[in-house]
Amino acid sequence: MPTATLTLNGTSYELPVVVGTENEVAIDITGLRSATGLITLDPGYGNTGSCESRITYIDGANGVLRHRGYPIEELCEKSSFVEVCYLLVYGTLPTQDELEAFARKLKSHSLLHEDMKKFFEGFPPSAHPMTVLSAMVASLSAYYPDTPENVDLNIVRLLAKLKTLAAFSYKKFIGQPYIYPRNDLDFTADFLHMMFEVPSEPYEPSETLVKALDLLLILHADHEQNCSASTVRMVGSSGADLFASISAGISALSGPLHGGANTAVIKMLQQIQADGGDLDKYIAKAKDKDDPFRLMGFGHRVYKNYDPRARIIKRYVDEVLQELGLDDPLLDIAKRLEAAALEDEYFIERKLFPNVDFYSGILYRAMGIPTDMFTVMFAIGRLPGWIAQWKEMKNDPKTRINRPRQIYQGERLRHYVPIEERSAATPA
Ligand code: SDX
Repeated sequence: MPTATLTLNGTSYELPVVVGTENEVAIDITGLRSATGLITLDPGYGNTGSCESRITYIDGANGVLRHRGYPIEELCEKSSFVEVCYLLVYGTLPTQDELEAFARKLKSHSLLHEDMKKFFEGFPPSAHPMTVLSAMVASLSAYYPDTPENVDLNIVRLLAKLKTLAAFSYKKFIGQPYIYPRNDLDFTADFLHMMFEVPSEPYEPSETLVKALDLLLILHADHEQNCSASTVRMVGSSGADLFASISAGISALSGPLHGGANTAVIKMLQQIQADGGDLDKYIAKAKDKDDPFRLMGFGHRVYKNYDPRARIIKRYVDEVLQELGLDDPLLDIAKRLEAAALEDEYFIERKLFPNVDFYSGILYRAMGIPTDMFTVMFAIGRLPGWIAQWKEMKNDPKTRINRPRQIYQGERLRHYVPIEERSAATPA
């Protein structure tokens, strides 16, 4: 097995090297501090592996994404979101009987405890759906205790109930009655029905919409050690239960640099549209270091090529809008903005390409999903990935409570000064 040599102040240390099944290579620094007293420093963890995982493989240079070895392109073309949930959580593609049994279990656990409806009453109409979702998922711990024999059932409960929680929170805030799950509908159709049915007007989701949403959910299902998945692992490493860990992941996802970007993209496109569609102005703003504006939906920590998920969504969005007879001017702005950015040296030099969030909002809009619910859709899609990461962490014998170190750069030793002897501190 190869090793890496670290030399500092004339002393050399041999460090083991780990090689993955796709020939990724890492220096194993597990024993670094005990052997050398040294730590490494990597703000944002861009160069740091937190674990060895068997769930998702990303090749950022070549725009490759696979779940349990299966290419995302094949899963989008041939699988379903419920089947991808099974694949991520249990590690294999199910047989027909296994898939049907799993789908039945999800249907039989999609109801919320009736008392949970009271929780929605406490939120003001202005509450962001991600705030509500995170709070409601954490509350599930109060109904479904985290005991070893409950873990598998709680995983099914969470997969089944998240879409009901999302639909109920939407109905609450638009002042409409809750629409309960229907077991005669499949997972994705059932969600759309809970979102858009009103008692006086039965709603049957079109096959186009069901297929489009199922595709989007598959495309969001997992993405290895992203910010929210790492948060789920971090919280779970303390022994916190599944619901608490996932609730933390939902909060991490809500940030505009992460899952909140799909909402931010639409707001950016609307701003450009309202401003007369001046793309050059906004490309210049994105490049201006003194301007906080960023091209939302562009760039990625891992992909230094076109995000394969963005490629699939872009290809599909034209088809869906055409089938629905919709013409969204924001799509035209998005396409022209992408073309302009991809020809611009700033973006080329930094390898900034559209990511999963750049076109997804156009599809959600076409389905009638309100902009503030876009990140909730991301969370519903990402849930099986978070659960798979949490399970893998829990079952990994190498797992220890996550506790990074630091390099202290503050004041050196000083002693307490009585208040009467203190002078006004110069402002920090
Ligand atoms: C997701 O990790 C995952 O896998 C996440 C995700 C998943 O499925 O879980 O893929 C989902 O979160 C997708 C990303 C969604 N966020 C956005 O679209 C927000 C806009 N993008 C950026 O904020 C940024 O690209 C990030 C946050 C996605 C990545 O940030 P990094 O890796 O920390 O990169 P960086 O900020 O250090 O940028 C490197 C350079 C900088 O310029 P210089 O200092 O080198 O001159 O590129 C520039 C940045 O200013 N840059 C951008 C830019 N993104 C990076 N400049 C303008 N517009 C942008 N969008």
